Amino acid sequence: MNILLTGGAGYIGSHTTVVLSQAGHNVVILDNFCNSQKSVLDRLQSILGKALPYVEADVLDAAAVEKALRDYQIEAVIHFAGLKAVGESVENPLKYYANNVQGSISVLQAMKAVGIKTFVFSSSATVYGDPQYLPYDEKHPTKPMNPYGWTKLQVEEILHDVSISDPQWKVACLRYFNPVGAHESGLIGENPSGIPNNLMPFVARVATGHLPKLNVFGNDYDTKDGTGERDYIHVMDLAEGHMAALTYLENHPGWHAINLGTGIPVSVLDLVGAFEKVIGREIPKAFAARRTGDLPVYYAQPERAKALLNWAAKRSLDEIAASTWKWQQTTVKTER
Ligand code: NAD
Ligand code: UD1
Repeated sequence: MNILLTGGAGYIGSHTTVVLSQAGHNVVILDNFCNSQKSVLDRLQSILGKALPYVEADVLDAAAVEKALRDYQIEAVIHFAGLKAVGESVENPLKYYANNVQGSISVLQAMKAVGIKTFVFSSSATVYGDPQYLPYDEKHPTKPMNPYGWTKLQVEEILHDVSISDPQWKVACLRYFNPVGAHESGLIGENPSGIPNNLMPFVARVATGHLPKLNVFGNDYDTKDGTGERDYIHVMDLAEGHMAALTYLENHPGWHAINLGTGIPVSVLDLVGAFEKVIGREIPKAFAARRTGDLPVYYAQPERAKALLNWAAKRSLDEIAASTWKWQQTTVKTER
């Protein structure tokens, strides 16, 4: 299948590129590189043994997207392109609504013009908001707690309306939990610019000595060790989930919301412990106040993905830690 990956040079998109390409699909990346580097394309070439076509464009440019769809005879789109920093979305909501909501509309308009109707959307567990019960299943009420989350929910709603307007549309809204880890080659992974907000990249930077210590935000939650619990999913499992979703959509038109998570809550100390085991030394850390807006715990009910997609996350926390460290040692160290 010829598949366009908007935002394909980013963290999740690059891993999905590897999975789809190695399964024999023809992947075309469309990215404006606002949060990724072109060197990712060279490293993807090293992994895949061939150069991939790419288009440097903004998804807001519907004409450029339409041209890419026609030039490469695209049959399905996976829409990763988006901004994802929660704090920045609170400070600059218009930037987020423009890029994430208008950007998605633009891609959909281009698809409509060409007659392509298969769309996989990068949604997030953040659409659920304050847990009414756990694990979150897909029927859990949706009430995001910040503009970033609202952009995801609004795009889901738009996609729902589009799929009702024309029953030939095949749409999967994949609600990711906490993606972490890296490809086993150590050539692609997550390397945010500036000081990381998320736990795993922060831990990695403490391990490499670029940051002095980890602040553990809260040790008085009602969790097994008092620290926050999340559903950390290996990015390669997540990438495989996208391929499973595309296969499912082949015979299942309509709109589908599907959690991609492990179903296992893991505490901050569990995650740090797995990392310490890999590097063979302690990560300097201190307990600090709770972070404003943090939920104590959330994790996925992953049964729907299993039932519909025949997909389940299979990689362990140890593999997550080991692959993150390999990525740090192989690529981040030399590129920094
Ligand atoms: P990322 O920032 O690494 O990748 C996003 C890519 O999209 C980048 O390469 C960026 O340059 C590109 N991009 C952004 N705006 C663009 C635009 N207007 N036009 C063209 N390209 C554009 O992020 P990621 O972690 O790979 O996330 C991918 C998607 O998954 C995002 O939509 C994100 O909101 C969603 N998501 C991520 C997480 C997570 O924790 N990483 C969790 C849930 C959902
Ligand atoms: C964040 C986003 C969420 C997004 C998710 C994806 C916020 C409010 N939410 O959530 O929208 O979908 O990432 O991965 O930003 N922690 C520390 N010290 C740190 C960093 C984090 O103790 O330096 C703790 C947090 O308190 C939390 C856990 O680690 O308990 C995970 O934090 P983080 O990686 O930021 O993810 P989320 O809070 O789940």
